[in-house]
Amino acid sequence: MKKLILAIACLINLTTGDYWTDREKLIQLDRASNIGSTLNLTEKETIADAFILNLKKQELQVGFNDPKKFPSALHFFKSRPIIETSPIFNIITRLPKGSSLHSHDLALTSQEYLYNQTFRENLYACLTDDTLLLHFFNPNNISTSCEWTLLKDLRENRLDFEEFLKSKMSIVRDDPVKAYPTINEVWKGFQQTFRTVVGLITYKPVFEGFFYQALRELRDDNVKYAEIRGYLPHVYDLDGRLYDEEEVVGIYENVTRRFKEDFTDFVGAKFIYAPNRRVTNNTMEAEVQIYKKIRSAYADFVVGFDLVGQEDKGWPLGDYIPQLLEIRSAGGHFYFHAGETNWFGFASDEDLFDAVLLNATRLGHAYALLKHPALAEAVKSRGIAVEVCPISNQVLKLVDDLRNHPAAVMIADGYPVVVAPDDPGFWGARGLSYDWYVAFMGMTSKGTGLRFLKQLALNSITYSSLNATEMAGALKQWKVDWDDFVDGLVRNEYFGYNEVLKVV
Ligand SMILES: *[C@@H]1O[C@H](CO)[C@@H](O)[C@H](O)[C@H]1NC(C)=O
Ligand SMILES: *[C@@H]1O[C@H](CO)[C@@H](O)[C@H](O)[C@H]1NC(C)=O
Ligand SMILES: *[C@@H]1O[C@H](CO)[C@@H](O)[C@H](O)[C@H]1NC(C)=O
Ligand SMILES: *[C@@H]1O[C@H](CO)[C@@H](O)[C@H](O)[C@H]1NC(C)=O
Ligand SMILES: *[C@@H]1O[C@H](CO)[C@@H](O)[C@H](O)[C@H]1NC(C)=O
Ligand SMILES: *[C@@H]1O[C@H](CO)[C@@H](O)[C@H](O)[C@H]1NC(C)=O
Ligand SMILES: *[C@@H]1O[C@H](CO)[C@@H](O)[C@H](O)[C@H]1NC(C)=O
Ligand SMILES: [Zn+2]
Repeated sequence: MKKLILAIACLINLTTGDYWTDREKLIQLDRASNIGSTLNLTEKETIADAFILNLKKQELQVGFNDPKKFPSALHFFKSRPIIETSPIFNIITRLPKGSSLHSHDLALTSQEYLYNQTFRENLYACLTDDTLLLHFFNPNNISTSCEWTLLKDLRENRLDFEEFLKSKMSIVRDDPVKAYPTINEVWKGFQQTFRTVVGLITYKPVFEGFFYQALRELRDDNVKYAEIRGYLPHVYDLDGRLYDEEEVVGIYENVTRRFKEDFTDFVGAKFIYAPNRRVTNNTMEAEVQIYKKIRSAYADFVVGFDLVGQEDKGWPLGDYIPQLLEIRSAGGHFYFHAGETNWFGFASDEDLFDAVLLNATRLGHAYALLKHPALAEAVKSRGIAVEVCPISNQVLKLVDDLRNHPAAVMIADGYPVVVAPDDPGFWGARGLSYDWYVAFMGMTSKGTGLRFLKQLALNSITYSSLNATEMAGALKQWKVDWDDFVDGLVRNEYFGYNEVLKVV
C-alpha cells in the first residue's frame, strides 16, 4: 500500500504538462530501482561503462535481427559456443566478480578436469540399471558389491567408450529437448550423474585435487571467495580407510588453506552442510548430529545448513521443523533451496514461506518468489539475498528463454540478488562467467551497463557469511582487482577492439 501511494505521488509530480518530458521522467523513475542504479561511477568507470554498453547493444542487435543467434534465448548446450566468442563474455571473465555463493560439492570443476581423472590407475567401473558406477580399488581387494571391471580394459574394448563415459559424467546432450522431454527426465539424468562421479571424486587423492582445482577455476575466472554446499559423502583410500564427515570437512579446510598459501590474493572458502531433503525423520536426526559435530569442530568454516534434491519430489522444509530448530540452536545460518519450482501452491512452492519463517540468510533459487507478493516484499526489505542460477534453471527445465526468467523482474526491482553457477561441471560451464553473461545480456535492460555488474560483485561479498573483519578484507581485495580491471578496460588492453572504442 505504501508503495502504491508513493508511486501515485511520483506520477502526480511527474506531470509537467509536456508529454515527452513526462515520459522521460517516468522512465528515469522506473530505472531508479534497478540493481546498481544508485552507484556513482568514477570518470574511468564511466568510460568503461560506455565501452561495455556499446558492445552490449551491438550484440543485442545481432540477436534482435536473428533470434537464433541470441545466446540467452537458446538452450545452454547450444549457446555455449556462441557465448565463448562474445566480447562481452570476454570482459565478464576478466571482471572481478567477488564470490560464488551457490554451488555443489560434486559439480565444482569443469567436466574436462574430472574426465582427466579417469585416466588414473586402479579405477574400476560397473554398469547397473543404466547408471555407470566408478570406484578405485586396490587390485588385490576389489569389492564384490558389483561386477567391477578395470576402466582401462573397458577403454580398450569399446570403440565409443570415451563418448559413453563423458555422457555419464555430465548431462550435456546434442539434442537436449529429445534427451529430456520433461523436468523429471532431466532430474533423473542429473541425479545419475551424481551417482557416477561420486566414487571417482571421493577417492582421497582425487578429492583433494578436485577441490583445489575448483578453487583454481574460480580464481582463473576472477572470483576470490566461495561458499560451497556439500553433503559430505565419505572419502576413501585404496586400503579401505574411510574418512567421516568431520574429517571430510577437515580436508576441505586444509585444501582451502593450502590454496590460500599458494595464491595470497584469494580470500577463501566456507562450507554449507547440505544433505538430501528426501530422508526419513530418523535420518534427519542423524543429520542434526552431524551438523552439530562439524559446526563445533569448524565454527569459522562451517557457516550453515541447507537441504538439496528435486524439491517437487519432496520432502518440504515443513516436514522437518523440529530438526531444523535444533540445527538453528547449534549456530550458523540457513541457506535453503526454496521455491525451485513451477508448481504454484504446491509444497515446493510453499517452502518459500518456511524458509523465510526460519530466518534463512539467503534463498537458493527462490524461482517462484514473485508469485507471493507479501513474502517477496519481506525478502526484499529484510535483505534476504536470492541466489539466482539462470543456466541451472534453464537446463533443469524451469524456463527455456532466459529473458523470461523471473529474476529479470527482481533485477529491475532492486532485490538483493547474487548470481551463481549451481552445478557448472555437469552442464559444461566453468566458473561464474557464463551465468553472469546470460543474466547481463538476457535479464537486464538494453541500457544497463557496468553499474549492474559492479553491484552484483559487491552483493556477492556483502551477502556472504564472512564476518565483519573478513568482509572488510574481501572488499579491499576486490577494490584492488576492480580498479585494475577498469584501468585495463579503459586502456583497451584486453581486446584491441579499437573500432569499438572509437565509437565511445
Ligand atoms: C551518488 O551521488 C549522489 C549525489 O552526489 C549521492 O546523493 C548518493 O548518495 C551517491 N550514491 C552512492 C551510492 O554513493
Ligand atoms: C586434461 O588433460 C589434457 C591432456 O593431458 C590437458 O591438455 C588438459 O589441460 C587437461 N585439462 C584440465 C582441465 O586439467
Ligand atoms: C579390503 O577392503 C575393505 C573395504 O573396502 C577393507 O575393509 C579391508 O580391510 C580390505 N582388506 C585388505 C586385506 O586390505
Ligand atoms: C589437515 O591438516 C592438519 C595440519 O597439517 C593435519 O594435522 C590434519 O590431519 C589434516 N586433516 C585432514 C582431514 O587431512
Ligand atoms: C516427521 O515427523 C513429523 C511429525 O513429527 C511428520 O509430520 C513428518 O511428516 C515426518 N517427516 C517425514 C519426512 O517423514
Ligand atoms: C526468526 O527471527 C525472529 C525475529 O528476530 C525471531 O523472533 C524468531 O524466533 C526467529 N526464528 C527462528 C526459527 O530462529
Ligand atoms: C572472523 O573470522 C576469523 C576467521 O576467519 C576469526 O579469526 C575472527 O575472530 C572472526 N572475527 C569476529 C569478529 O568474529
Ligand atoms: Zn543448488
